[in-house]
Amino acid sequence: MARSAVQGFYRYHAYIYDWTRWTILHGRKRAVARLELEPDSDVLEVGCGTGLNFRYVLERLDPARGRLVGLDFSGDMLRQARKRIAARGWRNVELVEADAARMDLGRRFHGILFAYSLTMIPDWPAAIERAAAHLAPGGRLVVLDFSRFAAWGPLGALMRGWLRLNHVETLRPYEDKLRATFPRVDVSYWLGGYNFTAVCQA
Ligand SMILES: C[S@@+](CC[C@H](N)C(=O)[O-])C[C@H]1O[C@@H](n2cnc3c(N)ncnc32)[C@H](O)[C@@H]1O
Repeated sequence: MARSAVQGFYRYHAYIYDWTRWTILHGRKRAVARLELEPDSDVLEVGCGTGLNFRYVLERLDPARGRLVGLDFSGDMLRQARKRIAARGWRNVELVEADAARMDLGRRFHGILFAYSLTMIPDWPAAIERAAAHLAPGGRLVVLDFSRFAAWGPLGALMRGWLRLNHVETLRPYEDKLRATFPRVDVSYWLGGYNFTAVCQA
């Protein structure tokens, strides 16, 4: 498969990701809490990157019974995630290199998280559909991502433009697609549309 623009972008950003993104990527812990995990939950993070959300998921799981799968199509980001897992000694985390729009893991999950990944996936409707197919009955899928900066006036256009230069598309109808896919969807916005959290139930 030819390397996509996003994979090319992370070829280099993988090395600086952890010490730069804390400035802009907020709300991780709150989003994981919305998954309402049990100690024995099976969890999938789609577009897990270097694994910055793993600790928030793992602190809710029993290491012997709960499991986490991190999926990403960037081998460079997964290499950093692998180092994090080894350094922390986490034994119930598995990494999968795959495209979210085509994923087929052959199993279902109680919780599925997209954290700042959906807006970077070119075929994002397919990624939502594939995730829905992986959600167990009664499970929850949570999306945390940039919103449209609706209350930011002219600064909103600047933010959207800057994010687009970084392969993040904020103006697609994410909420509509989630509502068309899941029977129950609750969406909340933070800081005048800086980001949104969507909680979807199967
Ligand atoms: C902004 S990072 C977010 C990483 C992590 N979720 C976090 O919260 O720090 C976006 C991630 O989505 C991944 N990604 C983008 N498109 C993807 C796709 N089609 N399939 C799998 N992963 C993808 C990128 O490789 C990148 O690691």
